[in-house]
Amino acid sequence: MDDLSTIRSEALGAVEQAADLAALDAARVAALGKKGSVTGLMKTLGALAPEQRREFGARVNQLKSEIEAALDARKSALSATALAAKLVNEKVDVSLPTRPEGQGTLHPIGQVMDELAAIFGEMGFSWAEGPDIEDDWHNFTALNIPPDHPARQMQDTFYLPPRADGTPMVLRTHTSPVQARTMLDKGVQKMLADGGSLRIIVPGRTYRIDNDATHTPMFHQVEGLVIDRTTHMGHLKGCLVDFCRAFFEVDDLPLRFRPSYFPFTEPSAEVDIGCSWKDGELRIGAGDSWLEILGSGMVHPNVIANCGLDPAVYQGFAFGMGIDRIAMLKYGINDLRSFFDSDLRWLRHYGFSALEWPSLTGGLGR
Ligand code: PHE
Repeated sequence: MDDLSTIRSEALGAVEQAADLAALDAARVAALGKKGSVTGLMKTLGALAPEQRREFGARVNQLKSEIEAALDARKSALSATALAAKLVNEKVDVSLPTRPEGQGTLHPIGQVMDELAAIFGEMGFSWAEGPDIEDDWHNFTALNIPPDHPARQMQDTFYLPPRADGTPMVLRTHTSPVQARTMLDKGVQKMLADGGSLRIIVPGRTYRIDNDATHTPMFHQVEGLVIDRTTHMGHLKGCLVDFCRAFFEVDDLPLRFRPSYFPFTEPSAEVDIGCSWKDGELRIGAGDSWLEILGSGMVHPNVIANCGLDPAVYQGFAFGMGIDRIAMLKYGINDLRSFFDSDLRWLRHYGFSALEWPSLTGGLGR
């Protein structure tokens, strides 16, 4: 019987002294594990006379319960201490000043795209996009530039391996293929048949084989397209006058519409804005010089027919301009290549706050 009280005091002592959960588990194994001291006592029961076995068995069981209760109690105590220590060590001082975060800026091209969305959005245009890798038909043929047309030479681009079905592929030379993609859209055709009016702008990347201070092999254009039954050249003029005045933020900005030629418009006009040069610096507004900024015209009946619409019913206008170019003019940046150098110092200087969304009422630029 002495055995039992020794085992009891050893087991309870080990539980009491366990300094962490690992030591406590070791104490549990030492008493109640397969080879533990209490388990050892259980094993001796079989050899006892029935009378003795009942009495001794009850005491061993009681000891077992006692040790289990002690283990539970110690476990709760250790967990509480561990939590308290963790709370002390991981204290967060909410009164510390915050660390300043580096603030990024919007690239002028993104800024100008947002400005375009603000201005044309007010006029009821929506934003459309198309693929950079375009097939020859959408980039040229649909737009009244058949193979061997001399206009193809002016838009020399990067030719990609043809598709499996033989379709020749190019990096698009302008955003105009999205005109064709949009007019061919069944939903758009239904909307037009129901008497609606199509108005889209298409900002995006374009490609040509060109590289100097004002040309890069990749650049950005925005296309505009309006198609319905009644839109005429007067609407084209009004729309572009309003756009240029809003964009350059010069209320009486003079515009000049010069006859021109594009295969996909007839008649066609290039648009110049008034400006002057003082000490080599450009001022946009009334002056004695003109700056060409965009191409435009009434959509050619062949293009309307190529896109599955009846040119006797539908008409409208289109325009296209370089986003990089109007960004350079508006914000006084003179080397186009710097747009794509990813120089953070340049971006900090020419970039825009990401928190100020351009709008006609709240202001467009800086
Ligand atoms: N796609 C023409 C170009 O890249 C621009 C343009 C678009 C002209 C629409 C007229 C109408 O040069």
